[in-house]
Amino acid sequence: MKHFLNTQDLSRSELDALLADAARFKRSPQGDALQGKGIALVFFNPSMRTRTSFELGAFQLGGHAVVLQPGKDAWPIEFDLGAVMDGDAEEHIAEVARVLARYVDLIGVRAFPKFVDWQLDRQDRVLQAFAKYSTVPVINMETITHPCQELAHALAMQERFGTTDLRGKKYVLTWTYHPKALNTAVANSALTIATRLGMDVTLLCPTPEYILDARYMGWAEANVAESGGSLTVSHDIDSAYAGADVVYAKSWGALPYFGNWEAERPLREQYRHFIVDEAKMALTNSAGFSHCLPLRRNVKASDAVMDSPQCFAIEEAGNRLHVQKAVMAWLASQSATR
Ligand code: CP
Repeated sequence: MKHFLNTQDLSRSELDALLADAARFKRSPQGDALQGKGIALVFFNPSMRTRTSFELGAFQLGGHAVVLQPGKDAWPIEFDLGAVMDGDAEEHIAEVARVLARYVDLIGVRAFPKFVDWQLDRQDRVLQAFAKYSTVPVINMETITHPCQELAHALAMQERFGTTDLRGKKYVLTWTYHPKALNTAVANSALTIATRLGMDVTLLCPTPEYILDARYMGWAEANVAESGGSLTVSHDIDSAYAGADVVYAKSWGALPYFGNWEAERPLREQYRHFIVDEAKMALTNSAGFSHCLPLRRNVKASDAVMDSPQCFAIEEAGNRLHVQKAVMAWLASQSATR
């Protein structure tokens, strides 16, 4: 049984098939691929796009989504094996995942890091525990990566360039300032998918402290070796933007300061000028600009960039509906083992 935890787990033909299916769902939104099927959407963190697009995507394919927020409208869950459960958690993931799998055909999970200890968070324990105990496919709705966003981003780039072959395009993933230290998930994912598609990728960040976790840098290097393209790390704004075809923005916290965010703040505060603005975009090859959203205007990107024809963030967000239909239809077509 396949889960959808990371795009890196997919073969290239599986990845291409999902993107092609998503394009078909975009042209023809209704269907019966989930007729009579259910999906549990388990949210440990807030969402606007993910929740809306999964719920409506399931509905438009004849299925039904149940949203659960453990600790709010569902019981708090314990994830440690062997835990003496005398704290807040009322039930263990070993029961939760197996029971949900008796009711539904798919389980989506959103579980951000706890932002205290990266060595713990990088284990992706919540997602991995659902995948371990569930007898139906599990979908990553954003944990320490965001593979659904990757697919939506990839489809949007293919649409923008009018081709599924993005090799040779210069792609800049730029860190941007944010008043809070944020998750690295979308940055990890952007690096993963852009290198997988054979693009010439530059990771632009203020200092070496903002380079991403070795696992994702390693995936990117492996992808370059397999797909062609290139991977460059840069701390120089002008040379990174020069000639870019795509600029993708995201803010994230510096991993060496993980859990010690007040100590990171003086470093981060020095780099407010990493905002994506018209002057930087003027250095590019009329690049498309995008961001996963939500985005703080005039902090991460200027109004002028967000409102320019170069910005395809809305198209990308819209594509979440179509790519997630493709993922749900694909996984649900596997025979359930419950
Ligand atoms: N991009 C994204 O996942 O948006 P939400 O956090 O609103 O779901």
